[in-house]
Amino acid sequence: MTEADPGSFRDPLSQVFSSNGEILRGLTAAGLAEFEAVEASPFYAALAADGLIVGTEKLAPGSHELHERWAGVLRHDRLPVVTYPYEWTFEMLRDAALLQLEVTRRAVEAGFSTKDATSYNVMFDGSRPVFIDIGSFEKPLRSEAWPGYRQFCELFLNPLVVQAVGGVGFHAWLRGAVGGIGVADAAAIVPAHKRVRNGLLAHLTLQARAERKHAAAEASGSAEGRRAGFSPKLLLAQLANLEKTVRALRWKAQRSVWSDYSDRSHYVGDDLPAKQAFVAEAVRATGADLVVDLGANDGLFSLLSLESGASRVVAADFDHLVVDRLYRHLRETGETRVLPLVLDLVNPSPGAGWRSRERRPFVERCRPDLVLCLAVVHHLAITNTVPFTEIVDLLADFGASLVVELPHPDDPMVQRLLSRKRPGLFDHYDRERWEQALDRRFTVDERQVLGTRTLYRCSLRSDAS
Ligand SMILES: C[S@@+](CC[C@H](N)C(=O)[O-])C[C@H]1O[C@@H](n2cnc3c(N)ncnc32)[C@H](O)[C@@H]1O
Repeated sequence: MTEADPGSFRDPLSQVFSSNGEILRGLTAAGLAEFEAVEASPFYAALAADGLIVGTEKLAPGSHELHERWAGVLRHDRLPVVTYPYEWTFEMLRDAALLQLEVTRRAVEAGFSTKDATSYNVMFDGSRPVFIDIGSFEKPLRSEAWPGYRQFCELFLNPLVVQAVGGVGFHAWLRGAVGGIGVADAAAIVPAHKRVRNGLLAHLTLQARAERKHAAAEASGSAEGRRAGFSPKLLLAQLANLEKTVRALRWKAQRSVWSDYSDRSHYVGDDLPAKQAFVAEAVRATGADLVVDLGANDGLFSLLSLESGASRVVAADFDHLVVDRLYRHLRETGETRVLPLVLDLVNPSPGAGWRSRERRPFVERCRPDLVLCLAVVHHLAITNTVPFTEIVDLLADFGASLVVELPHPDDPMVQRLLSRKRPGLFDHYDRERWEQALDRRFTVDERQVLGTRTLYRCSLRSDAS
């Protein structure tokens, strides 16, 4: 079956489809001519060889049903999990921004350009950013400024600025504002003296002034862009300036609630090695290829899953500092098979954008073979007061096998959470009721008690109610 990607409808020259597990792009005659010109230029082959753009091949004419309606059809490599900028950490968005600038710079040096610069044009293949919007390359008109400048600011630069300089996390904001963070909003939370210090005068102060002066349509190329963009030389200078600005932005957070968890010193005796052995065996027993590790923290169990045979892992956690550290660790060690993600299980990414379908809900995009949910259930059940049945339903939504850990009511971590609650409110938090909830949707294949915790390996029931 061939279906149009609900997020791909804005480009008049091309549209993305999914067809029997493949990602295809239909091109109009003009789009095909543009792609062929791009493909013939050495910059394109160099970007592909460096792994900066998604693997792409042109299908032979007439070889796919899409050829009936489109002049050309491309096939793109399929990434295991589609993610959006509001699920990335600061460093991930920063690396994505640098990739967009590098791809555009190399295109401009070869006489081409990119027609837009949205952070949705980048995806993460594991921990590696990849530019996916092949349809974005174009031969610019002679006197054209970089049309992507304003979008680059709204969807890359301003989110980075509000977090690094303004101290406000960009995630909730970007998730709510599909078009990104406008210059006036970003400028409102970054004091003037900090703009000077961070080289943001041109991109915030002048840009905000230009937008106030001109109608929105008038500003689309941006005042700065219009002045700077009349020749490749000036455009390259603008890109170099943006790169310098982005490189100078740093998010300096040191601590968060979960940033010191790595020592796991509360595990007693051999409990931690036994937990690791249980998880490793579960990954082997299920033969899982793609694992999602919910509440992954520093990724200990994500990396263990790789060692145990998984080929890809999504390491999701709502604490963006711990996820950011994990990303930096992966980048330093060159481990590309783990995709770190910022995700709040209590409020996972919903459908968003046009008809609420342009950006799809997380659970639809992430179809793993195995879900790990280790030392998280008590937080959901007690801190967030989510009933066991609801937690199990969320875990079952992934449609996969499950390894889940339940700390018992007498576990010191559970006791700590309960001490903040009114006595008696959580009397239902016990193993029996948890196992009843689990049995509704899963079959327990393996169970191991480790001190004050139980680990379960489960398969999804087909007859689940
Ligand atoms: C006790 S640690 C467990 C880490 C790891 N899974 C393990 O077993 O060693 C709990 C983790 O769950 C994360 N967490 C808690 N509530 C969460 C939520 N609502 N959504 C996503 N992550 C959550 C915390 O940030 C923390 O990193």
